[in-house]
Amino acid sequence: VRIPLDPDSRVPLYRQLEGWLRDAITTGALPVDSRLPSSRALAADLGVSRVTVGTAYAELESAGLVVAAVGSGTRVAPVLPTTAVGAAPGDRRGGTWPAWQGSAETSEPAEAGPRGPDVVAFTGVGDPAAYPVAEFGRTIRQVLAREGAAALSYGPDPAGDPSLRRTVTQLLASQGIGVPPESVLITSGSQQALALVCQVLVRPGDTVLVEEPTYDLALRLLRAAGAQLVGVPVDGHGLRIDVLADLLEGHRLSDRPRPRLLYVVPNFQNPTGASLSGSRRHALLELARVHGVPVFEDDFAGDLRYSGRATPPIKSLDDGGHVLYAGTFSKLLMPGLRIGYLVVDGPVRRRLVEAKQVTDLGTSLLLQRALDRFVTVGRYQTYLRRTGRLYRERRDALRGALAEHLPDAGFALPAGGLFGWVALPAGVRSDALLRAARDRGVDVAPGSRFFLRPEDGGGHIRLNFAVQPKERIAAGVVRLAAAVDSLRVTPSGTSSRRQ
Ligand SMILES: Cc1ncc(COP(=O)(O)O)c(C=O)c1O
Repeated sequence: VRIPLDPDSRVPLYRQLEGWLRDAITTGALPVDSRLPSSRALAADLGVSRVTVGTAYAELESAGLVVAAVGSGTRVAPVLPTTAVGAAPGDRRGGTWPAWQGSAETSEPAEAGPRGPDVVAFTGVGDPAAYPVAEFGRTIRQVLAREGAAALSYGPDPAGDPSLRRTVTQLLASQGIGVPPESVLITSGSQQALALVCQVLVRPGDTVLVEEPTYDLALRLLRAAGAQLVGVPVDGHGLRIDVLADLLEGHRLSDRPRPRLLYVVPNFQNPTGASLSGSRRHALLELARVHGVPVFEDDFAGDLRYSGRATPPIKSLDDGGHVLYAGTFSKLLMPGLRIGYLVVDGPVRRRLVEAKQVTDLGTSLLLQRALDRFVTVGRYQTYLRRTGRLYRERRDALRGALAEHLPDAGFALPAGGLFGWVALPAGVRSDALLRAARDRGVDVAPGSRFFLRPEDGGGHIRLNFAVQPKERIAAGVVRLAAAVDSLRVTPSGTSSRRQ
């Protein structure tokens, strides 16, 4: 135990020790009911007398913070006195943190939604109940048995495990992207792929073009990089190329610097579920080429298609290094792996690999090796087919439930992915609906999260249909419909407050 005691202080050692333990208990660093070391062991560790430790423990006991029982030693009290609970660690220094820490304000949405077995949460990514826990556990054990300590090293290359990169190129080839393994950079999820691109390409004040609405954490990341975000609207066929063309032309004609990046989610977009049409993909690439703007293609749900024909990725059309393509195993497998990849060619590749190296020295080699094996022995493909069937059923269940219980809400069936985008009945706003829905034990993502100006998203909510079993989807939509009904505006102009 390393407890900082100062033998030269005027404060007696037992008081110093008691003060340190008191802080540790009241802040929760020493959890309730946890066992303290014996006074003999602690005295030996700290180089103080047993009397010093015994006196500190006695003081804590009389304050009700610890209990001593013959035979089981001294433990933190199972229930702390109310006066002791909730003290912040900073209280010890007079309640203030150093000024450089600034405020705790962030762009994070204020409060997390309700959770618990009775809550139907249409939020999150895939369904954890479907994760291949046992199979993946077996794979990790096999990797450790075969490769031993080598699997626990940093690995030979910060760009990623060579074998996994080869495997990724095979998966990419099946999508129409033909690149060598050298073009693949393994990242900690596609979020890191975007973060690295920001690090290398985007400087504070640069203009970055985004679809609107778009994935909220991309907006937050780009804003954190200091980018000036300009939105391009999305319709049922994805990003509006006509608006993009006008915007880029406007930049060309003015002396404003050209945008530094275009961030686009072409398949089953988050949050709208829309997919960019084939002709728009060609047009987008042509605009990127003519105007010299790199495209970040975020293919976050890749193969999770339930209907319709696959459209080739923009990257598959690009032979000139205009597109940075990001894929991830988060949605197709498990987000906790934190493994994604960036496909990039040309001189910028080295700068991105360097950014990756100085950021985290590489993604966990053990997990890369395990993932590689999981894919190469075919377990991944089996799992993908299974979840594809499961999520398609759930998508259809959501469509059915909405048609039955919220017939005046707008819903365009997404061809794949995880999200459905619901246009709310007239007069119902998403932030008020979020509160009413949460009160009824159902959680949704309000549309406001996905727009540059939150008020523009007031007419929509995003529902993740992949996380809940079919029966719960129906139950959740019934509750949601009740929440919507409570907010409907009656002909007299007042809210109906129907329950
Ligand atoms: C559109 C989109 N891109 C990227 C990500 C980040 O995923 P990850 O970093 O887990 O690959 C998400 C996560 O939800 C997403 O929805």
